[in-house]
Amino acid sequence: MERVLIIGGTGSIGRLVAARLLELGRLPRVLTRDPARARRSLSEGVEVAAGDLADPAAVRAALAGADAVVMTHGAPYGSGDHAAVDYGAVPAVLDALDGQRLPIVLMSSIGVTATGGQARELLEWKRRGERLLRASGLPYTIVRPGWFDAGSSSHQRVDLCQGDRIEYGPVRREHVAETIVQALLTPSASGRTVEVFSADGPALTDWPGAFLAAEADRPGDLDGARDRPGPRPR
Ligand SMILES: NC(=O)c1ccc[n+]([C@@H]2O[C@H](COP(=O)([O-])OP(=O)(O)OC[C@H]3O[C@@H](n4cnc5c(N)ncnc54)[C@H](OP(=O)(O)O)[C@@H]3O)[C@@H](O)[C@H]2O)c1
Repeated sequence: MERVLIIGGTGSIGRLVAARLLELGRLPRVLTRDPARARRSLSEGVEVAAGDLADPAAVRAALAGADAVVMTHGAPYGSGDHAAVDYGAVPAVLDALDGQRLPIVLMSSIGVTATGGQARELLEWKRRGERLLRASGLPYTIVRPGWFDAGSSSHQRVDLCQGDRIEYGPVRREHVAETIVQALLTPSASGRTVEVFSADGPALTDWPGAFLAAEADRPGDLDGARDRPGPRPR
């Protein structure tokens, strides 16, 4: 896999994903509504594709020649744009792919299966995006981060979990980005939904083993393998 389109590649996680892909000799390409700002903030070597994900022609153009797609986009919390952006990016990419079978890594969030809570609307749209991707039949990995950089700076270990453990806690942004990149590069990550947290202990080195230890999503099931059925209080 060489060229990777990152939807949300100018964001706090997407920028780290782009930098890591460059380091690994891949060609990251970033879709952005503001190419001038993107060029100022992204490393040299990152390709910039101009456009809004609501513009099908722009998404199709950004996908030209890509071998894989990473989605780390998101509308500002409370903007009212979660349906159009957080969810809307998934059908936008699937439509633009038009049957092409590219692997997709989607960053979602912990808490998508919970009910209630202030972020309910946002999380509901994230969950719908996850479900559409699982139903697409494309090779995918869904990565659900814990709370970004919330007191986790000394933690070296990436902890992959399942079951939407909203109570677990924080994750370093660089651990989220590394998990996304490893999900792209590791065949055993395909068809899996994992939550990612940062914890005490040695750094994770056996990524194939860590993904293999996660249960694969059941074909035809819209939810993650260990998501608990029914509504969950939050
Ligand atoms: N904060 C947490 O603890 C936490 C935990 C779990 C999950 N999350 C999720 O993480 C996401 C935020 O990640 P982040 O911090 O990396 O993002 P961010 O810094 O807020 O950046 C958002 C990205 O989305 C892109 N985007 C937004 N609307 C777009 C549109 N209409 N067309 C094209 N691109 C668009 C932006 O691109 P341009 O502006 O360049 O166009 C930018 O790259 C949120 O969805 C949030 O729910 C957050």
